[in-house]
Amino acid sequence: TWTTAAFVEQSVREIRAKVGDKRVLLALSGGVDSSTLAFLLHKAIGDQLTCMFIDQGFMRKYEPERLVKLFHEQFHIPVEYVNARDRFLQAIAGVTDPEEKRRRIGHEFIRVFEEESKRLGPFDYLAQGTLYPDVIESADTNVDPKTGERVAVKIKSHHNVGGLPKDLRFKLIEPLRKLFKDEVRKVGRSIGLPEEIVQRHPFPGPGLAIRILGEVTDERLDILRDADLIVRQEINRHEMYSELWQAFAVLLPIRSVGVMGDQRTYAYPIVLRFVKSEDGMTADWARVPYDLLELISNRIVNEVPGVNRVVYDITSKPPGTIEWE
Ligand code: XMP
Repeated sequence: TWTTAAFVEQSVREIRAKVGDKRVLLALSGGVDSSTLAFLLHKAIGDQLTCMFIDQGFMRKYEPERLVKLFHEQFHIPVEYVNARDRFLQAIAGVTDPEEKRRRIGHEFIRVFEEESKRLGPFDYLAQGTLYPDVIESADTNVDPKTGERVAVKIKSHHNVGGLPKDLRFKLIEPLRKLFKDEVRKVGRSIGLPEEIVQRHPFPGPGLAIRILGEVTDERLDILRDADLIVRQEINRHEMYSELWQAFAVLLPIRSVGVMGDQRTYAYPIVLRFVKSEDGMTADWARVPYDLLELISNRIVNEVPGVNRVVYDITSKPPGTIEWE
């Protein structure tokens, strides 16, 4: 029978046998797959592993710091933190079209990945958190006809653009390739990953950049991060997190009139998007208690400067999508 302990033990043996004395690069994303992967590889090959975390500046408030701290303090795994916030913001400055935003973020990711892997390398292998369902699709890999080994031609980064340049085609190591998501969660839990990573809701690769409609600016990112943090705090406090597929805030690039005290305000609205779903392909807007919505609305309007209105999205998918861009 399958146990997490047996899986960890066997993976460690297989990783050691395959890697030998070579070097491995892993791009951390903050999710359960790449975190579990980092743990297994570090256990197997120690400092032959380099974990790289590219901070695009579009993650939720405190998430980059928490991730790096968790790896350093709890797992004693060093992380190469790459602060690329300014570059990514520059790359999408003035861009309002959703697909163009995604495309530019994806391309910037490849560029940063390429530069940093050259700076830290050379590496023989790229570790990827490929799961069993991805192996079947297998769109991001080639098989070397001579050795039969899978070779990365793309980085699995949730950015569906941009192949790797020819001189950067790593051999792949994919210790999670026989697992389904629920098995990865079990392994993640057994090695001590916190629930906030194990159970983490899906989070798009371009992150908050596609939850700010239209142009992304520093000011708008700050506002959205603060509103989003309040959503997360209240969803957790009310123990709703595991009931929902996703629960997040969206910032609209328009202003409406409001009143606070005896002052007229003219500020951004925040949309709350809470959905239930099995697989993300279809989704229902979540019927959460009005009291919870009121609490979140009051907190956002009172605590986040620049926001004077909160609305709730009651569109299911289809016809709506889960994200707004
Ligand atoms: P939509 O908005 O298409 O989203 O209903 C379905 C699921 O996919 C996630 N999503 C993304 N994930 N990169 C990702 O890694 C993306 O560009 C992206 N866009 C949407 C979304 O959060 C939802 O879970």
